[in-house]
Amino acid sequence: MRSRLSAPGVRQRFAHDLEAMFLVAGLQERFLPHTRRLRPVEVTKTLEQTTKIEMDLRLEAAALSELGENAADDPGFRVPKVDWERTGRDVVTMEWIDGTKMSDVEGLRAAGHDLNGLADTLIQSFLRHTLRDGFFHADMHQGNLFVDPQGMIVAVDFGIVGRLGKKERRFLAEILYGFITRDYRRVADVHFEAGYVPAHHNVASFAQAIRAIGEPIHGQPAETISMAKLLTLLFEVTQLFDMETRPELVMLQKTMVVVEGVARTLNPRFNMWKASEPVVGAWIRDNLGPKRIVSDVKEGLHAALRLAEAAPEIAAKTEKFSRDLTSMAENGLPFRRTDC
Ligand SMILES: Nc1ncnc2c1ncn2[C@@H]1O[C@H](COP(=O)(O)OP(=O)(O)O)[C@@H](O)[C@H]1O
Ligand SMILES: [Mg+2]
Repeated sequence: MRSRLSAPGVRQRFAHDLEAMFLVAGLQERFLPHTRRLRPVEVTKTLEQTTKIEMDLRLEAAALSELGENAADDPGFRVPKVDWERTGRDVVTMEWIDGTKMSDVEGLRAAGHDLNGLADTLIQSFLRHTLRDGFFHADMHQGNLFVDPQGMIVAVDFGIVGRLGKKERRFLAEILYGFITRDYRRVADVHFEAGYVPAHHNVASFAQAIRAIGEPIHGQPAETISMAKLLTLLFEVTQLFDMETRPELVMLQKTMVVVEGVARTLNPRFNMWKASEPVVGAWIRDNLGPKRIVSDVKEGLHAALRLAEAAPEIAAKTEKFSRDLTSMAENGLPFRRTDC
């Protein structure tokens, strides 16, 4: 058994800090209208919500139990069982996990675990929870992940979890699918259909901006293609088109950066697209109708890999584009027009 206790006095201290944050966020929205798009009050509410969960350990136990139920049949992934008898507001008790920490890569190797397999399982589990359940562990760093003697990944520390509604899940899957198949118009349409980008913007120009992110990525060697980086670039571009900040998507993107990082420590040649295809492809086949069959995803992937072999020099351009983008985001410059 493993129990965790709350720090004394932390509840009052946090309530006080939060009050101050709400005050500032409210003032900001009222007197600095241009910051409204960033939705400071909404972001503070999300923080309040997630921290409430972190401070009431019954809620942490509930998150653990919910994910445990969702993942009951997941291959290679599980979470400790909650001991509800010994769990309350200030203490959570769960099954003791006797395993090797994911931070101990040498230990994992010595125990004879398949590191490449673990990397794939980790990313697939994360995507499965995100797309299938809309409920994911949002603090998936090496210290919160064990591998048990049977080779199962066991996640602990459910203080931070994220949720995605049906609409956001679909949005995410469509985006990944669009990038994999290089259908940038589709990726752009999805943003407008979801109402994330204001309708006064031009879909074709937006698709053009998204192509500028997608094409260089398709030129990279497979193992350097990062899904997290793709989402990061995408959110930067969407901001230029006045897309509202979606706190749950930002949380997802930040978690993906971490999960991908862990996968790469296990397998330096980790191919994010290949690893994610079974989960993203299955979700699309099951949820987006018969027209969008999974072989499309595979074809897109193969095309991407062929492209990667043919044009390694495109990779260099990504770095430059990323830099341009940062400067655009900072200085508010528009995209270069093609006619000048
Ligand atoms: N169920 C468990 N079995 C064994 N060790 C655990 C378990 N849960 C947590 N731990 C260990 O305790 C450490 C701290 O617990 P954690 O829940 O991650 O709290 P924190 O919020 O302090 O990171 C973890 O990194 C892990 O090493
Ligand atoms: Mg922890």
